[in-house]
Amino acid sequence: MSVTSFPGGDSSAATDSPTICSATTGKSKTKITMPMLAEMKRQARAISALTAYDYVTARLADEAGIDLILVGDSLAMVVLGHENTLAVTVDEMLHHTRAARRGVRRALLVADMPFGSYHGAVQEGVANAIRFVKEAGAEAVKIEGPRTELVRALVAAEIPVVGHLGLTPQSIHRMGGYRVQGRNVESARQLKADALALAEAGAGALVLEGVPREVAAEITAELPIPTIGIGAGPECDGQILVFHDLVGLSFAPTAKFVRRYADSGALMRAAIADYREDVERRAFPSDAESYHLPEDARRSMEAAEKTGTL
Ligand code: KIV
Repeated sequence: MSVTSFPGGDSSAATDSPTICSATTGKSKTKITMPMLAEMKRQARAISALTAYDYVTARLADEAGIDLILVGDSLAMVVLGHENTLAVTVDEMLHHTRAARRGVRRALLVADMPFGSYHGAVQEGVANAIRFVKEAGAEAVKIEGPRTELVRALVAAEIPVVGHLGLTPQSIHRMGGYRVQGRNVESARQLKADALALAEAGAGALVLEGVPREVAAEITAELPIPTIGIGAGPECDGQILVFHDLVGLSFAPTAKFVRRYADSGALMRAAIADYREDVERRAFPSDAESYHLPEDARRSMEAAEKTGTL
């Protein structure tokens, strides 16, 4: 298909975004793109973001109308059971991004670049990012830290970038643990300088994690691109949470900034225990949950049983 021919015909279609109908909300919702996030900031419309790691979680988030879905490297901890995010590999992230891709229609799908996949030569980072777009259908990648040279190279390769500053979990060993960042004037100033440099290099949005509310508010006001906060206060242009924290599927105590909207873990545990009990007392499956022979076959079987020819 020619790049100048768009479904719908006239050239104005080139600037129109496809419209998706949400099954849950029933509302017609426009496909979210990276440029639309900047427009949402201009219009002071809050951006909702959530992590997801597979078809089910991504589809649930998408149908609930979430604007940005991140296949986060938090996958390492909340899905794969690692102690921190460092162990997850490019191939594992690709596998999960592909699964999430199948569940997302409206949201912007962002893939997190895992530790080690962009920390060496810039060209290696670009090559890995291309895999997320080409092999897994990501519409943007997220990288941690003030890596302006890499951001420039990714944008030059047509890959939208979400930056991530503040408490960057891939820096756990340098930070000496998960600690709130930007807590004094000097480090707050550095954070703001890094944020402005990432925007200047072409990042399309910026995650601010574990940053004092006042610092995040100042950065948000100064930055031309949207900030998406997690533990960074309400003045950010948007908010993101980890799926498992939001729905109550995490085993460790959650951070102060997490609001748990459901206790899915308790719900699932109770359902599984009920099932086990039903199996043990032979209350599952019932007759209604069983398949039956067609009437004529049943009669023939009964006859065969009576004559001992079954
Ligand atoms: O991996 C992740 O889940 C993240 C979010 C916390 C922003 O990076």
